[in-house]
Amino acid sequence: MSKETDATRVVKLREQINAHNYRYYVLNDHTVPDAEYDRLMRELQELETQNPSLITAQSPTQRVAGAPQKGFSEVHHEVPMLSLNNAFDDQEALDFDRRVREKLDIENIEYVVEPKLDGLAISLLYVDGSLQRAATRGDGMTGEDVTHNARTMKSVPLILNQRESMYPQTFEVRGEVFMSRAGFAKLNQDQQNKNEKRYVNPRNAASGSLRQLDPAITATRPLEAYFYSVGFIKGGDIGKSQSEMLSNLKCWGLRTNPEIKKVKGIQGCLKRYKELAAKRDTLPYEIDGIVYKLDRFDFQQDMGFVSRAPRWALAHKFPAQEALTKVNAIEVQVGRTGAITPVAKLKPVFVGGVTVSNATLHNRDEIERLGIRVGDTVIVRRAGDVIPEVVKVVMEKRPQTAKEFVFPIKCPACDSDLSFEGEGVIARCTGGLFCEAQIKEGIKHFASRRAMDIEGLGDKLVEQLVDEKLIKDASDLYWLTMEQLTALQRMAEKSATNLIAAIQKSKDTTMARFVFSLGIPQVGETTAQTLQQEFLDLQTLMQADEKRLAEVADIGPVVAKSIADFFNETHNKKIIQRLQDAGMTWPVAEKSNATLPQNLDGLTFVLTGTLPIMSRDEAKDKITSAGGKVTTSVSKKTSYVVAGAEAGSKLTKAETLEIKVIDEQGLLELLSTGGIE
Ligand code: IVH
Repeated sequence: MSKETDATRVVKLREQINAHNYRYYVLNDHTVPDAEYDRLMRELQELETQNPSLITAQSPTQRVAGAPQKGFSEVHHEVPMLSLNNAFDDQEALDFDRRVREKLDIENIEYVVEPKLDGLAISLLYVDGSLQRAATRGDGMTGEDVTHNARTMKSVPLILNQRESMYPQTFEVRGEVFMSRAGFAKLNQDQQNKNEKRYVNPRNAASGSLRQLDPAITATRPLEAYFYSVGFIKGGDIGKSQSEMLSNLKCWGLRTNPEIKKVKGIQGCLKRYKELAAKRDTLPYEIDGIVYKLDRFDFQQDMGFVSRAPRWALAHKFPAQEALTKVNAIEVQVGRTGAITPVAKLKPVFVGGVTVSNATLHNRDEIERLGIRVGDTVIVRRAGDVIPEVVKVVMEKRPQTAKEFVFPIKCPACDSDLSFEGEGVIARCTGGLFCEAQIKEGIKHFASRRAMDIEGLGDKLVEQLVDEKLIKDASDLYWLTMEQLTALQRMAEKSATNLIAAIQKSKDTTMARFVFSLGIPQVGETTAQTLQQEFLDLQTLMQADEKRLAEVADIGPVVAKSIADFFNETHNKKIIQRLQDAGMTWPVAEKSNATLPQNLDGLTFVLTGTLPIMSRDEAKDKITSAGGKVTTSVSKKTSYVVAGAEAGSKLTKAETLEIKVIDEQGLLELLSTGGIE
């Protein structure tokens, strides 16, 4: 091929690749299969290797180029990069709006409402549409030159599009570099696998990744950016308002947040604040508040600045998801199946919208990784419906008296030896039925709402009954007498009568509930339902051996073994017999009593977060009665994740695995039609 045709082809390929990038990153539109994109990139790479003179800095092949840097040089911001004033409640937002209306002497104000991404600000300088320089905000006046690193980010265009309107000859666009929850989770997992330091939160991860000396490392990090303002401009125009500017940025190839809306008045802002607060945990990235900006630039100019923040914008913050507090103690808890979980007992602190006094430390490894000691000051984090976690110890605040935690080798409840599985990380009590802690947890589970649903039999009462030796397993509940109960401290006659009535009422149940309530390791509600469908009566189930159980659809070898082992245990058989003697009854199960339309047949759901109308249990019942399955953890087999407010890690996992996420409305549509519009 002649030089001439190679050169033309190279230009054509770059155009095609850039157009695909634009569609994918800016318009969020997946139009081309990865394989096709890769083919174009490969062809371009080959042509450039054959003709090095055709390589330009703006070619999509040149995102990672050059050796690691020695350091970052300083960049002076011609137009300072400001910060925002914060509001922590509605009143402060109303005050802001009043100041705006008074100063402008206008009543009907339009605002642009933008999510406040929790990342770090970046400035990109384009000259004639080509990226010249990228810089961090730094102190607002001077930042660091991170051009080499920013060039590796797919959401940073190396050249701009020329569409309906023309970009200015020289202009600086500003936005936020961030990491999605899914990207963050994956990065931390990779870091852990490589025995490298994990990042505390997505913001630190984004900042640490953008400020790597070696751009090749930045290139591997899942960094993204959204753009929301401009700085220095020469030779051209960006529009007359924030909304016009945003649509221009998007046209030119600079990603803008699709959640941004123009609203009327402060009431419009507050309404949007509420909407986004409800949606906060279902967004794929973290936001720490909402930014209100006066739409019209001439009004912005009239308002001006005060010290380092504009008077025309306001950040209305959400409750923080991280807080500092002290570790009062470290204890271990014994679960129903003997699993030992270390827990940090904290000085109560308000974080993620609730007061937190316990945070899980997961396992022995995690304690070592954190280096946590009793007396330490720590950062606690509660995002969405995730269990509160200690993410970091503030070493500078460690008192001399801080005490190291020695992981026990005996069960704190029954003194049996602990066994250590999974390379010594997971501890388990070997006490089994002799361990009072396991007995208590087992009975709490038995009485719980989704199991036998014994109203009034809460955790505290179960502990009291076991401590007073009135019960030693769940079957003893059915032989409790009024005398025994009224003799308990704080138990009045009325509560005792109610409790006995509730215990009696629980006898009328279903086989699936009964099987679930036994607390067989690995058997949750869904498996219990499967077992009922398959075996129809308890006797047949109890007689099924491991091989037969493993034949059941959705039951793997591990679960089959666990069920068979459980029913082989003499003690368990005795308890089941005693429960049946007490008069446990359930309707005879029939093979698939599919009277309702089975629209969700074959689909598996995971519920997370709080749904606006249905309770989680209601949603679960609706799904199962339409033939669907509900499981607790997200895997490749999950068909849909139904996410409500405060959804957390499950949602993140769904995004990582690219599982479809729907809301309550979507679920209702599926239930009625079996498909989503
Ligand atoms: S506007 C003059 N818009 O928040 C206006 N900032 O607290 C300057 N941020 O440094 C910023 N999302 O890093 C603006 N939609 C948004 C934002 C946003 C996040 C960050 C940005 C800024 C900080 C100010």
